[in-house]
Amino acid sequence: MVRVVRATQSEIDTAVQTLRNGELVAFPTETVYGLGAHAGHPGALRRVFELKRRPTTHPLIVHIDSPRFLTRWAREVPVAATMLAERFWPGPLTLVLPRAESVNSLVTGGQDTVAVRVPAHPMAQQLLTAFGGGIAAPSANRYGHVSPTRAEHVRDEFGQSVPVILDGGECKVGLESTIVACLEGTVRLLRPGSVTLSQLQRVVGEVVVDSPADAPRVPGSQRAHYAPSTPVTIVPIDVLEKMVASMSDSGVKVAVLAMRPPLGTYPLVTWINAGQRPDTYSHTLYAHLRTLDKSGGARILVQELPTGDERWDAARDRLQRAAAAGGEDSAEHHDALAIGVLP
Ligand code: TXA
Ligand code: MG
Repeated sequence: MVRVVRATQSEIDTAVQTLRNGELVAFPTETVYGLGAHAGHPGALRRVFELKRRPTTHPLIVHIDSPRFLTRWAREVPVAATMLAERFWPGPLTLVLPRAESVNSLVTGGQDTVAVRVPAHPMAQQLLTAFGGGIAAPSANRYGHVSPTRAEHVRDEFGQSVPVILDGGECKVGLESTIVACLEGTVRLLRPGSVTLSQLQRVVGEVVVDSPADAPRVPGSQRAHYAPSTPVTIVPIDVLEKMVASMSDSGVKVAVLAMRPPLGTYPLVTWINAGQRPDTYSHTLYAHLRTLDKSGGARILVQELPTGDERWDAARDRLQRAAAAGGEDSAEHHDALAIGVLP
């Protein structure tokens, strides 16, 4: 069950003061937790990159409480962007637009565009309204890691280095926002999310989707991303059950994220049944990956997601990137190949 809570006035006051001082505040959104910085404060922005260990060439999303402030950030708001904003804001959609002159280049990664989002989470709204400006916020995790969907995940990532973490419970969506660029008369899907391609098409007509090879440079679009430290392998369910049986028989500990319970009993296996519904699967995906990552398995085997239903696209995208990352020690992958447990 999703618990959405409001912050007290004193929590919001502290958070706002912290941002104004150039320090960071982690806060909940309906997608994932963000690591927020005053978007006009270079020191605070530098701290975000430093803490996340993220290259400064990778731009941040500016969060605002309502579209009324959009023109502070974008020098031009194409009709398509206005239509998307009217339909999906507040909500899990980020728009990439031509940047306004005044936007700090740390926010834009030196590019001529800026990413903006109006989140729907009531606590994010409270914070943004009280702050009264833009909060630049990437997901509140170390560069390349799994995004946090609970306040305690943020604490796990950063310990005491983030002075304020607002706890708004579990993020409802659980995967990062859909990112759409509205530039030079073209609407382009840069990152799939819970706002789906056909929902976008219903509003604006044509939407370009690039193949991964020619997609523009965005950190979330690097293949090795959104990854636990244990290597992830995606396999069809029949193969998965066979691999689990053989790994378990050979005394290898393994972690599984599936859409159904196991048929057999495997003493060395941590098996999570994440169910068959795309919304609940997405909502719990990152928490499950964190649990499986800690379970001590040599590998996380993930059941291949269904094709032909776009509601699985965002989760599939993140899992494919996690699998491409190869884990902290991808040598293990080669060991697994060598002992013949991987196809
Ligand atoms: O749901 C979300 O979008 C969360 C919450 C906190 O709002 N934020 C998030 O931020 O996922 P981050 O930094 O982890 O991912 C933002 C993505 C990155 O892939 C970044 O490269 C892309 O947005 N991005 C930011 N500015 C961009 C720009 N000007 N052009 C293209 N992509 C951009
Ligand atoms: Mg991120």
